[in-house]
Amino acid sequence: MLNSLARLEYRGYDSCGIAMASGGLKVYKDKVRVEALAKAVPPLEGTTGIGHTRWATHGEPSQVNAHPHCNCSGDIAVVHNGVIRNYHSLKEQLIAEGHSFVSETDTEVIPHLIEKYYHGNLEEAVEAALLEVEGSYAIVVLAADEPKLVVARKDSPVVIGLGDRENFIASDVPAILDYTNRVIYLDDGDIGIVTKDSIRVRRDGTEVAKQEHQVSWSIEDAQKGGYEHFMLKEIHEQPKVIRDTLGEYIALAEPIANFAALSSTPLEGMLLLACGTSYHAALVGKYIIEELARIPVRVELASEFNYCQQPSPRTGVVAITQSGETADTLTAMKKLKGAGRKVVVINNVVGSSASRLADQTVYVRAGPEISVAATKSFTAQLMALYWLALSYSRVDISRLDSLIMDLRQLPSKVHQILDNEDAIFECAKYLSRYNNAFFIGRGINFPVALEGALKLKEVSYIHAEGYAAGELKHGPFALLGVDTPVIAITAQDNTYEAMLTNIKEVKARKSPLIALAEEGNETIGELADLVISVPKIDAIFSPVVNTVALQLLAYYTAKQRGCPIDTPRNLAKSVTVE
Ligand code: F6R
Repeated sequence: MLNSLARLEYRGYDSCGIAMASGGLKVYKDKVRVEALAKAVPPLEGTTGIGHTRWATHGEPSQVNAHPHCNCSGDIAVVHNGVIRNYHSLKEQLIAEGHSFVSETDTEVIPHLIEKYYHGNLEEAVEAALLEVEGSYAIVVLAADEPKLVVARKDSPVVIGLGDRENFIASDVPAILDYTNRVIYLDDGDIGIVTKDSIRVRRDGTEVAKQEHQVSWSIEDAQKGGYEHFMLKEIHEQPKVIRDTLGEYIALAEPIANFAALSSTPLEGMLLLACGTSYHAALVGKYIIEELARIPVRVELASEFNYCQQPSPRTGVVAITQSGETADTLTAMKKLKGAGRKVVVINNVVGSSASRLADQTVYVRAGPEISVAATKSFTAQLMALYWLALSYSRVDISRLDSLIMDLRQLPSKVHQILDNEDAIFECAKYLSRYNNAFFIGRGINFPVALEGALKLKEVSYIHAEGYAAGELKHGPFALLGVDTPVIAITAQDNTYEAMLTNIKEVKARKSPLIALAEEGNETIGELADLVISVPKIDAIFSPVVNTVALQLLAYYTAKQRGCPIDTPRNLAKSVTVE
């Protein structure tokens, strides 16, 4: 188990643990690396066990919050990936029924629920417990008195490895490749009952037959879940990230509770602070919040905030940071806190410095982002900003309903972009020959141009500038010509006609032109040298699909140029110096 956990270390984690049926359940867990845990675990006798590396979502990284989690009497242990959305109400109900909890995690409700339904048959108890659970999960359950594991999945991956008089369960293939390359994959709703000699899978109470697959990867291939780079893997994770992040907000009875610390009423304005890609998310947020909540929004680079005026007392302050460790963002937050202001942070890392400093943290559920270039965290931050805007929304109910419907469809729209990879690859081949590029957009897609340029320059080393399309003629036109491609980001909103004019101006200067345009747009198809089609969507959500397309464009351009995509020169994932 410890070896398998070490195989998953590339994912990033903050604590780890194991439980073994060894004359009762023995649990060892801590906020340490797997190597340190291995040293702390005494020799154990037993044949059935579970292990986990945790990346905190609910409750900071700590010994008590690490998995496995147990029921009151310590004879049922559970490891879990995913997010239990209704854990709060389940926990209250279980406490009222006499269960006591020790951790702050969402996961801990699961062993207690199983305990509640356990009358000697573990799989029935798991089935009954999961009927009450909302959210995403891959869980494995171990009971002291049963020589088997029960595994279940919904929206989080599970693979079962088939051995010779031994079987394995894991969230990802690398964990089991040292032992077997014969696997079956669980689907949503499946519950598996695994012993050393047998595997049964049930769905809705009926047994289902599962197909066996042969894995052809080497251990090294599999470290990135089969993707060549973390950046590509993380780009592809975005439909799930959107689902996980939004699902949690939507499940809240009181959406605005997420932002309670912005409580100064009436809110006369908002200040958003961030760096880099998070700053670009903040710039998109300005358009979203101003349109839906009709509150003026000021966006500042955290690194420049020291030289700016403090906001007025009725301004809600929101910092945005993926890592929660960016020095400039922390300094700006401290300056505001020093002036007695309340600060909300939108953050991806539970227990980060920013979350400890903030009055309230709104977590995004992007999961660990390992590639230096931020991709999925940007999309997750946008989800938080849509939610912030909707929490203060002043639009009428029919627009609100249609926005929520569009939000729910976003994962499938992003899938459409991911399915369009071949066309984006062709554009990347074309772009990779040049040394300079401009990205242009208007309105809500102006920050998308900035983000597209940032992605391209950091991973492909092509000098790229993002520009408000209307500004090109105020100087940069001097640089246009056959050697300077322009990537134009269009949307079907009040910017469309002006963007068409800008595209024509660019073509008149003989610059190669790649355009992002809604599927079926023939006018742009005729003007541009190459087109990346994006799905039809309300323009307020166009930054999501457009940015995913530009992430892929940057990725494949960098690949074409042979760049070290996940670790670009001179860059670090967390910028902890000012
Ligand atoms: C770009 C990138 C950086 C970060 C910036 C802020 O791909 O990753 O620009 O966005 O360093 O980092 P966080 O969001 O962790 O504060």
